[in-house]
Amino acid sequence: MYKLVLLRHGESVWNLENRFTGWTNVELTEQGRTEARRAGQQLREAGFAFDIAYTSVLKRANHTLWLALAELDREWIQVEHSWRLNERHYGALQGLNKAETAAEYGEAQVIAWRRSYDVPPPPLADGDERLAIGDARYADLAPGEFPRAECLKDTVERFLPYWHDTIAPTIRAGKSTLIVAHGNSLRALVKYLDDLSDEAIVDLNIPTGIPLVYELDAELKPTAHYYLGDEAAIAEAIAGVAKQGRAA
Ligand code: 3PG
Repeated sequence: MYKLVLLRHGESVWNLENRFTGWTNVELTEQGRTEARRAGQQLREAGFAFDIAYTSVLKRANHTLWLALAELDREWIQVEHSWRLNERHYGALQGLNKAETAAEYGEAQVIAWRRSYDVPPPPLADGDERLAIGDARYADLAPGEFPRAECLKDTVERFLPYWHDTIAPTIRAGKSTLIVAHGNSLRALVKYLDDLSDEAIVDLNIPTGIPLVYELDAELKPTAHYYLGDEAAIAEAIAGVAKQGRAA
């Protein structure tokens, strides 16, 4: 009935350096820009002609969207930004290397911080410059509402109102919709769409820059989902994301 496309941003500088990123506003790498263009080409070849796109307020997602839309000759469509599509806030882990953190705290702790549904990372302290209070991107967030750290459950809770109030009605209205967001904000959406359990979501890893197509029925329940591209390369990219939390 409907097709919805989810796209995680291309490789960022901190993906390359294997650092916890969260709300840190890092750039794409050259490889990330290539991934974004390739995603646009794949979507064009698969016949997608989007009417509207939703993205976060973080530049790695915004630039991915621009590059993909350019390949689709669709730069002119409506684009909506919301912090509710931002990456999960990684709290005091933001900036730390994932493998070094695993060496220091143990891989099991890093898996819990990265993938458990309800274990938040350590929070940012008051006055920490990483809080980004005062950044114009977050003008509609009162200082007390700023996340200090989020577990996936928190991300689901701040994302779902945007889904229900803004994105879902657009899809129901028949608009071809693209969402360009982040590993964990997309995991939040997939958990909701596929009704995954808190245990099952632990094993879900979303690779950078590979379009994920959801076919939805009239109630927006998924009837199928699949990545576009070469299956072996996709499996390798997914395994690569899972491995980022291993001690070096
Ligand atoms: C980050 O914020 O560090 C990444 O974009 C997602 O990280 P994760 O795969 O470790 O959750």
